[in-house]
Amino acid sequence: MLPDEERRDVSKTHKLYIETVGCQMNMLDSELVVAALRKRGYELTDSAKSADTILFNTCSVRQHAEDKIYSALGRLKNAKQNHPDKVIGVIGCMAQKDQKLIFQRAPYVDLVVGPGQLHQVPDLIDAARGKAEQRMEVSLGRRDGSRDEISRSHESFDPLRDPEMRPTPYQAYVRIMIGCDKFCTYCIVPSVRGPEQSRPPEHLLAEARQLAAEGCKEITLLGQTVNSYRYRDGARIWRLSDLLNAIHDVDGIERLKFVTNYPKDMTDDLLSAVRDLPKVSSYLHVPVQSGSNRMLERMKRGYTVEEYREMLDRIRQMIPEAAVTSDFIVGFCGETDDDFQQTCDLVRAARFKNSFIFKYSERPGTKGAERFADDVPEEVKKQRNNELLLIQNQISEEDNLKFLGRHVEILVEGPSKASQQRGEEGPLLQLTGRTHCDRIVVFQGNQRQIGQILPVIIFDTSAFTLHGEVVTGEAGPELFSLGA
Ligand code: SAH
Ligand code: SF4
Ligand code: F3S
Repeated sequence: MLPDEERRDVSKTHKLYIETVGCQMNMLDSELVVAALRKRGYELTDSAKSADTILFNTCSVRQHAEDKIYSALGRLKNAKQNHPDKVIGVIGCMAQKDQKLIFQRAPYVDLVVGPGQLHQVPDLIDAARGKAEQRMEVSLGRRDGSRDEISRSHESFDPLRDPEMRPTPYQAYVRIMIGCDKFCTYCIVPSVRGPEQSRPPEHLLAEARQLAAEGCKEITLLGQTVNSYRYRDGARIWRLSDLLNAIHDVDGIERLKFVTNYPKDMTDDLLSAVRDLPKVSSYLHVPVQSGSNRMLERMKRGYTVEEYREMLDRIRQMIPEAAVTSDFIVGFCGETDDDFQQTCDLVRAARFKNSFIFKYSERPGTKGAERFADDVPEEVKKQRNNELLLIQNQISEEDNLKFLGRHVEILVEGPSKASQQRGEEGPLLQLTGRTHCDRIVVFQGNQRQIGQILPVIIFDTSAFTLHGEVVTGEAGPELFSLGA
């Protein structure tokens, strides 16, 4: 039996439901918010119905991401009428962008909290419960003060961690910087995430050590332009390469990745670090966005296709095994067939491991929306999206074929999607893991292998997946000689 004190605590437990959309930054923010709420006795639930606190961690990068949240909010109208004690909060990038508009569109929302104010979430929820008053906490806009004032109003929120909210207990994100100062004309991120600010190396190292002590093996460093990291520590300037070197020495961390790279900041010191540090994955996400100089200029990306290709050549020369991936926007303002064909040519030549392709979505308040008409019809955007995807998928398929018969090392992440759908309940089940170059491998395994780094031999491939078999002790030495 529980002592009285604890019994009361259990009966008081709040149930939290959280839905997260957007990029890895948001996934990390959700992890941190959940950790802070758990400290106050909250328990996670995967049913919005049974929760007394519902949070949406939102994204504004494309209209579609916002629509999804507004329709989810629409479905909660009755829930709030029937249970006025429920607290509904909208946090993250759309909270910063839409602010009071959220209350207008969904009057039963209690809280709107921007990504620079997440440290306030637990107190705000406590204050909101059972009260009619709505609360909004957002950071200053990019034109609403001096750079210092604006920076201070966007606080990096990196306190406690919560392993249950991570992709897996063995993998964690560490945010090395917040914000973005690149102001690509199509992009909302600089205005919702505020000025670029790098976090102090000693905080990052302490976080890495703590994660390692908790059993985490892989750390992915996060930043909107992660390779623009710069931190002045007295006379010393820390760059991403210095950070990688320092975190590389943390015992227990076996893999290091970093996303997302800005092409112009892909310096040789960084490439040398990737080449020379065995724990650093040879996986580089360096979005190019378009293969047309005219579009790149309109996007204000700050490089030409030729410069991007030179950078790619440098990567291939210094790290021949590197897997490079990219993002593309199709149908940006004024994009002609010819511009688009130049993008197709670049994809054919660059042979990215994979590409994320997005249809341009006009974002109010951006320079793109102010200066240019969103004049490519939706149908054409769709067509271009599909066409580019086909080209990329064929390349991915061809490149994956090269892995046939090869030996790779994977970090086992957990049951594969198919295994989850089939409801397989171990110990023997289909598992999934990732190679050093971020390729997905599925294999028949045992539950106890989750979280281990294992040698696997590849016997089948597709555009998206490698199929492998664990290399066992006796067969090891011969199979190990088969390649990377
Ligand atoms: N900071 C990263 C990614 C930012 S958002 C970078 O600089 O690459 C992720 C991707 O979304 C971008 O790379 C871009 O391809 C896409 N994106 C951003 N704004 C968009 C918009 N308005 N419409 C469509 N796609 C967009
Ligand atoms: Fe957006 Fe450009 Fe900054 Fe990336 S670099 S977050 S695309 S403004
Ligand atoms: Fe979306 Fe904000 Fe990330 S707008 S892409 S969640 S930084």
